[in-house]
Amino acid sequence: MNIIELANLNAFYGDKKVLNNINMKIKKNKITAIIGPSGCGKSTLLTVLNRMIGENGGSIEGKVVFNGKDILNYPKNELRRKVGIVFQKPSPFPLSIYGNLAYAPLYYGVKDKNLLDNIVENKLKISGLYEEVKDDFKMSALELSGGQQQRLCIARALTVEPDVLLMDEPCSALDIKNTANIEDMLLNLLDDYTIIIVTHNLFQAKRISDYTVFILDGEIVEFGETEQIFNNPKDRRTKEYIEGMYG
Ligand SMILES: Nc1ncnc2c1ncn2[C@@H]1O[C@H](COP(=O)(O)OP(=O)(O)OP(=O)(O)O)[C@@H](O)[C@H]1O
Ligand SMILES: [Mg+2]
Repeated sequence: MNIIELANLNAFYGDKKVLNNINMKIKKNKITAIIGPSGCGKSTLLTVLNRMIGENGGSIEGKVVFNGKDILNYPKNELRRKVGIVFQKPSPFPLSIYGNLAYAPLYYGVKDKNLLDNIVENKLKISGLYEEVKDDFKMSALELSGGQQQRLCIARALTVEPDVLLMDEPCSALDIKNTANIEDMLLNLLDDYTIIIVTHNLFQAKRISDYTVFILDGEIVEFGETEQIFNNPKDRRTKEYIEGMYG
């Protein structure tokens, strides 16, 4: 089943077209990786999906359908609740660990302390952070290591029960061990969530994604099952990119 469908999608910053005629369908409960050289439009594509592009000074033409409905027909806060985003640089709020996780549920009106505790505990467990921080809920999240901060941010993104998690190079500031932790976590999330991940790390795309889309100069060159894209690319440019010819 497709959770997101883009049809004839163009994206602009001012007069400059940065995404050209994007057509793609994102499968539910799968990981889709977006790869391509710097500046090709990967981050822009993510910001189209939660309409953040408008706040970044950009605009779109064409159609983006999420759960069967045009994204323009969702109130922005509802869309962003259902389509969460995690960035490259971990960005915990300057609050306690508990405060970070409780923030959005409190905002959305969860008042019951037990329920709040359950949400915090459950999301920390999913993110693999619980055992490491269970005695330090009151500690500032800013005191965590970079890898822990990123797992906290993913856990925080999950507290509002999104359907889709957009991730823009979530591991590029992390070492191998923390990257492995996060990759394991993402694979464990697929029963409940759909993940779209931008990555410069082709090995990462190969390891964890089900589908891969290769973008060049704002256009989709090739989109398919990850195994096919990496083992049997149809387009010469895809082959050149994954062989490291340009980057
Ligand atoms: N807020 C903005 N205002 C104007 N131009 C922008 C803005 N954000 C991105 N661009 C331009 O849009 C194009 C696509 O940028 P984008 O950030 O989507 O690329 P990217 O594939 O994510 O690159 P990278 O791998 O370096 O993160 C680039 O030419 C970039 O300079
Ligand atoms: Mg980017």
